[in-house]
Amino acid sequence: MEKILDWEKYLAKAAETVSEGIVMLKNDNGALPLDMNETVSVFGRIQLHYYKSGTGSGGMVNVSKVTGIVDGMLEAGVKINEELLEIYRKWDEENPFEQGDGWGGEPWSQKEMPLDDSIVEAAAANGSRAIVIIGRTAGEEQDAKTEPGSYLLSELEIDMLRKVRKHFSKVIVLLNVGSLIDINNINSISPDALLYVWQGGMTGGTGTAAVLTGKVSPSGKLPDTIASEISDYPSDAYFGGKDRDVYAEDIYVGYRWFETFAKEKVLYPFGFGLSYTSFDIEPISISGEKELMFAFKVTNTGKYPGKEVVQIYICKPQGKLGQPARELCGFEKTRELKPGESQNITISVNMEKLASYDDFGASGYQYCWVLEDGEYVFYAGTDVRSANKVYSFVQDKTIVVEKCSQAMAPVTVFERVKPQKHGEAYSFIMEKAPLSSVDEDKRYTEGIPDEIKYTGDKGIKLKDVKSGKNTMKEFIAQLSDNALSSIVRGEGMGSPRVTPGTASAFGGVSDELAGFGIPACCCSDGPSGMRLDCGTKAFSLPNGTLIASTFNRELVRDLFIFTGTEMKANKVDCLLGPGMNIHRHPLNGRNFEYFSEDPYLTGQIAAAELNGLHEMGVTGTVKHCCANNQETNRHFLDSVVSERALREIYLKGFEIAVKEGGAKTIMTTYGSVNGLWTAGSYDLNTVILRNEWGFKGFTMTDWWANVNFRGNEPKRSYYVPMIRAQNDVYMVCSDSAGVDKDIISALEMGVLSRAELQRNAANILGFVMTTDAMKRIIGEADTVKIINRADSEEDSNEPVIFYDIDKYLKIDLSGVKCVKGQNHAFALTLKEPGWYNVTVTASSTQSPLAQIPLTIFGMGTPCGTLTWNGTDGKPVSLSCEIPLFSRFSAIRLYFAQNGLALHDIVFELVKAAENMDLAFASED
Ligand code: BGC
Repeated sequence: MEKILDWEKYLAKAAETVSEGIVMLKNDNGALPLDMNETVSVFGRIQLHYYKSGTGSGGMVNVSKVTGIVDGMLEAGVKINEELLEIYRKWDEENPFEQGDGWGGEPWSQKEMPLDDSIVEAAAANGSRAIVIIGRTAGEEQDAKTEPGSYLLSELEIDMLRKVRKHFSKVIVLLNVGSLIDINNINSISPDALLYVWQGGMTGGTGTAAVLTGKVSPSGKLPDTIASEISDYPSDAYFGGKDRDVYAEDIYVGYRWFETFAKEKVLYPFGFGLSYTSFDIEPISISGEKELMFAFKVTNTGKYPGKEVVQIYICKPQGKLGQPARELCGFEKTRELKPGESQNITISVNMEKLASYDDFGASGYQYCWVLEDGEYVFYAGTDVRSANKVYSFVQDKTIVVEKCSQAMAPVTVFERVKPQKHGEAYSFIMEKAPLSSVDEDKRYTEGIPDEIKYTGDKGIKLKDVKSGKNTMKEFIAQLSDNALSSIVRGEGMGSPRVTPGTASAFGGVSDELAGFGIPACCCSDGPSGMRLDCGTKAFSLPNGTLIASTFNRELVRDLFIFTGTEMKANKVDCLLGPGMNIHRHPLNGRNFEYFSEDPYLTGQIAAAELNGLHEMGVTGTVKHCCANNQETNRHFLDSVVSERALREIYLKGFEIAVKEGGAKTIMTTYGSVNGLWTAGSYDLNTVILRNEWGFKGFTMTDWWANVNFRGNEPKRSYYVPMIRAQNDVYMVCSDSAGVDKDIISALEMGVLSRAELQRNAANILGFVMTTDAMKRIIGEADTVKIINRADSEEDSNEPVIFYDIDKYLKIDLSGVKCVKGQNHAFALTLKEPGWYNVTVTASSTQSPLAQIPLTIFGMGTPCGTLTWNGTDGKPVSLSCEIPLFSRFSAIRLYFAQNGLALHDIVFELVKAAENMDLAFASED
């Protein structure tokens, strides 16, 4: 069947998402919407460099056109102070945007343009309104810091705000950031309006302009609590440690902490967000027992059309376990209501899903999900603080909802928060977190499945299992140890077996496997859209925090139907996202990719994304499971967390994604949780994910992750503990087809059984059978026709050429046209990973003062920029050194200007890395 991907509609849906995710914190003095007859002055250099997303795998989407906020406003017909814009343009040319170098090398903020009072005063003569845009990016391998230019505003930004405030009567501040930043300095100048516009992807400016102009009333709600000071966040004392991060605040994360123990520290509560209009919310009825149905009538009582989110919070009895004062347990967003219009909405709350995990036995039911006896009170409203009591009931005895076994519990002694309730007030004590008493070896040994007897090739192909002609067991019985050892190792990055420039291939990653009719399937980063390192353009989506702020499952699902169609068109089976770690602390470098401090909201939004992708027969890989809440030393950090906090907070979102979103693939983390690197955790991968939640898909490691056996040092490419844990696929290896000696010798020595490899293979193949890659083999795959996409966005469709290189390679570039804004891409298959000297020879007939830069990207990351001046037409060679560590390395030459005649490019090995698969280790 042919599917149609209408690019215009995709853009419109993403812009709608942006408009709905923008959170308006303040709007006084009639600052917004803008007056379309008045000229607006826009301040802040980021107006010229809209942050569509953060950096790293959550942001590396090659996109032809990003509509920034000013572009969006101009398109919407806003009159912009052109003179001021020109001043910024000129200054920006003289002070170019700092790109930074390498992976995550982009600075997280840019130097602001110093402002003269006279410029601001002159601008103010044009109209009463000023918009100030503050921007921040973020990314992998480092966290934000409580420093100017990072979490805090820089001196120049503060100065800009002060000067603008002095001269303008209406000051609107827009935060183009991935997640929370400090707003004290902003508030100190008393802006009239303050909005988190987040990072809205390639069409962010269009969605933002729709809100600014009043075409859409803001309806986004805060997915995180805004506290006065960073030190007010309960994890602050522990976050950022090098070796260990103790989760002493336990389940009291975000609003669970603030609403229980520190109400006065909150500037803006969780769930808060203003609209241009106002709403009345009237409870109509509450029915049901196990499944409570709350019905409300929502009426738009204001002057603008708008949407509202009704949120339900529960306060459970303190019981023996202790509980936060509020927990989000349901929400629904209305459709757009016209002034005066009403809508009845129903929110269902399943009591069993509200159970708490007793990790100690305090309730009398050790390792069980329980609903303790006592009074359950429900609150409804439009944020956690103002929600009013709507219902309560008393349960006379403790109910056990599910019996589990202790899993992933801490092995390090530490104390955690336990509330004490005095009337309506709370205080807390610290209690010892229960430690693990599990005999992990015994548990693992008992879980080893039966071996399927090896039959050799019986001619059964995977399609025979798909059609029901043969069983999966019969199929697996044919796979040799070599084949089994290949299938648990994904190949990448940039494997030539799949779509060029993607993160990995899995499934049919060797000729032997392919011979059984197993297709090679493809994974591509990431949460903000497809990362195709060879330069193929893709759609850049709004960031995770923005998407969560919409509180709109249907909208998110619809957006991801488009993304699913785009993946299909690019033969990508798994998008490596959503990222769904908890916003435990505002400084986490990857918060921008993740959704919220709340696990219920996180799970609901992830499930909505998955439901959209699944409509198109592709999927998202939910990551990073679990407790990947800090980037500092992320490969080696041990998160020390109670079992209760893991299950109720850090795993909860994943559980919802599996149970309600039907997640088919999961990525574990780089770091360790309670002393064991998650990729080798049997408790996580087998006991919790599969035995308890019924997860049926396959799990993969993070890229080049460390794995260990308890008590041993972690290592990369350490497959044996991973296979035993049932973390099915190691991502990634440079050559999955090659025999892995460690696996084979572990089989020979009995450290590993063939049965475990067979079990993991069945998990992987179970998923592979559902993919388009499989459908292509049997001739049943859909095709996708993309319509209404501007020519500039389209790809050349030319196949990417792979060149073999053994220490030295020269490629003729004389046929390559150097066109401003375009790329030339190819890929290398390296014999030797390491540092390479790259020399590009080119000539130009332009003036001696012309600047013609060419940026070299290796695996999607800018590695160096070479800039030519006019050369009188003579060949000039420029060089830089770049790291090439992946056997398959996508190379992209990006031309920032016209006017270069390319001659050739030479790669020469300067310093070899020791081992291909471990090469990345040397980069740390
Ligand atoms: C990130 C993952 C990502 C992977 C592949 C890692 O650095 O942590 O989220 O999917 O790289 O690019």
